[in-house]
Amino acid sequence: MSQELKILLVVVTTTLFHSHVAFASDPDPVLDFCVAFKDSATATTTTNPSCKNSSAVTVEDFTFSGIKFPGNYSQTGFSAMPVNSNVFPGLNTLGMSFVRADFGVGGINVPHFHPRATETAFVLEGRIYSGFVDTNNRVYAKVVEKGEIMVFPRGLLHFQMNVGDTPASILGSFNSQNPGLQKIPSAIFGSGIEEKLLEKAFGLNAKEIAKLRNRFLSH
Ligand SMILES: *[C@@H]1O[C@H](CO)[C@@H](O)[C@H](O)[C@H]1NC(C)=O
Ligand SMILES: *[C@@H]1O[C@H](CO)[C@@H](O)[C@H](O)[C@H]1NC(C)=O
Repeated sequence: MSQELKILLVVVTTTLFHSHVAFASDPDPVLDFCVAFKDSATATTTTNPSCKNSSAVTVEDFTFSGIKFPGNYSQTGFSAMPVNSNVFPGLNTLGMSFVRADFGVGGINVPHFHPRATETAFVLEGRIYSGFVDTNNRVYAKVVEKGEIMVFPRGLLHFQMNVGDTPASILGSFNSQNPGLQKIPSAIFGSGIEEKLLEKAFGLNAKEIAKLRNRFLSH
């Protein structure tokens, strides 16, 4: 193989690889829309539903009123109401979804990430200390005010805390119909990982691990 050909191959392979990475996202739709069937037995859709017969589709399939009001606060003073294709079947195949989140005074959204989506968080009310951590453990964080937006890159750890003296709200948008959510505290301490491993990983004793497990199990 000539030197020129080798160089060309490397360039082509590298370009292909990078364009694959750059365009990785939900697949393009092949229909105008594909309203997912609700599985009435479980009140959620299956992960790969077929489309509702379009002659039975109405405008009601494309509207959603489940986030008019805030949800109930968790013990961290936070409420999140995800609006993905599971709760809003009209979003199915359209490659996007969103979340309404509300914060009591001092409320926090614990460190978490979305494996399948980048998120933009638009502050509707309040002042929210918001940030993410890149893969070099560098933190990008500041107080984001009403009317401002922060972006959390796909798959990166991020967090928020209401630092104002009134309740705060955001609308988060995702470039996936099913972004996924992994909360770090419950993924680590609430998931049933062998206790010995957690003790070694965090330099804690059995009693301290038990306390954390108790707090995060089933949250
Ligand atoms: C969709 O509904 C229409 C009207 O009820 C019916 O004629 C058609 O056969 C249905 N299509 C499919 C694929 O079931
Ligand atoms: C909030 O809690 C009340 C009382 O337990 C309950 O009736 C209501 O459905 C809850 N709201 C949500 C959005 O879960």
